[in-house]
Amino acid sequence: MDKLIITGGQTLKGELRISGAKNAALPILAATLLSETPVKVGNVPHLHDITTTIALLGHMGITITIDERLNIEIDTQSISRLEAPYELVKTMRASILVLGPLLSRFGKAHVSLPGGCAIGTRPVNIHLDCLTKMGAEITVKNGYIHASAERLHGTHLVMDQVTVTGTENIMMAAVLAEGTTIIENAAKEPEVEDLSHFLNCLGAKITGIGTSTITIEGVEKLQPKDLFYKILPDRIETGTYLTAAAITGGHIKLKDTHPKSLEIVIKKLRETGAEITCGDDWIELNMHGQRPKAVSIDTAPFPAFPTDMQAQFTALNTIATGTSIITETVFENRFMHIQEMQRMGAQITIKQNTAICEGIPELTAAPVMATDLRASASLVLAGLVAKGDTIVDRIYHIDRGYECIEEKLTQLGATIRRVPH
Ligand code: EPU
Repeated sequence: MDKLIITGGQTLKGELRISGAKNAALPILAATLLSETPVKVGNVPHLHDITTTIALLGHMGITITIDERLNIEIDTQSISRLEAPYELVKTMRASILVLGPLLSRFGKAHVSLPGGCAIGTRPVNIHLDCLTKMGAEITVKNGYIHASAERLHGTHLVMDQVTVTGTENIMMAAVLAEGTTIIENAAKEPEVEDLSHFLNCLGAKITGIGTSTITIEGVEKLQPKDLFYKILPDRIETGTYLTAAAITGGHIKLKDTHPKSLEIVIKKLRETGAEITCGDDWIELNMHGQRPKAVSIDTAPFPAFPTDMQAQFTALNTIATGTSIITETVFENRFMHIQEMQRMGAQITIKQNTAICEGIPELTAAPVMATDLRASASLVLAGLVAKGDTIVDRIYHIDRGYECIEEKLTQLGATIRRVPH
């Protein structure tokens, strides 16, 4: 397993291009299963989770062509297996996103049940309940979800809890269902919006995009002509680099990004003392060499503060002036990075889903271990401001969600290198 070694103490400076959004690319690649004609997607980030999704589509017998610009063309005409096997699902929970499209277009799907996860139990009961209400017959046997339906029918659904992939799965299922589906308490995340726009480009009829009530009028088939769809920029990658600059007192400009999807993160970074200016597709942050001020956060579904930025803000708070309170309301076990930060000297106490952090001037380097994607990013950020060499182990998590992280941080002046194990 590769490791990252970060020598702390550099101030980040410079410009960077932001990649396409992992959490938009994954459902959009799954949604190509709905199209009878080939479709092409661009701005797809070069990440492990994308490779896994391509392997999953390949396992189904789908024809995938990748050009020199990494645009991906998917042609589902050759599909021969309606199955997502355990070997692939266990490495990427988002594989569950093929359930809705397979069932809706082909009337059948066998998808391995995702197992536990480092950040919480993450059940898929809402996905299955909603599909059942749309007429699917679902059984769970030998660790697999077996779903079938002659044709799904539209219905009025109220989701018990806001779920991102749950909303996406049901939206994709509803696109080819008979009649109209209304999803209430739907997720409003920008990645859900991007998927809705993509589905409409395929020929779907979705309204209420970006609101908590989404209406999908079912259509018979989707046969777009020469569709090329560009994935939206990654707001979490953007937020992670902004936080990396803020924690080091730096000055950076991020290009090809989408400031509108990051309003709360920008607001919170301003509270730390950062000067931030934005254009339509760029963000510039200048910390003027100052140590950040502590900032409290409460995670919740969009447009509130994203759980996927909690660990990075925790890293920032460890070296901020003052005390912060960090409350995690989305996942029940998303503080695993804190124990590692404590080994670097961070002063944090945890009470249930709340962490209280007393900022100190400097962390000290230590060998640390990443437990999930955002936790590992937060440990890299902590390493940027730790005295000495921080060794982050198990960085395969980082490669699932950050394109070329060490190259990008090096471009901004960090001292970071990857060592193969
Ligand atoms: N939940 C249920 N039942 C369900 C579905 C969800 O109880 O059937 C619960 C979950 O256990 C959790 C809450 O609802 O407590 C919200 O989970 P959600 O379903 O929204 O999460 P997800 O769709 O599995 C996506 C992202 C995550 C991100 C969350 C929250 C993708 C592929 N993943 O997960 O991204 O943290 O939404 O915004 O879109 C990451 O990129 O590092 C990552 C973990």
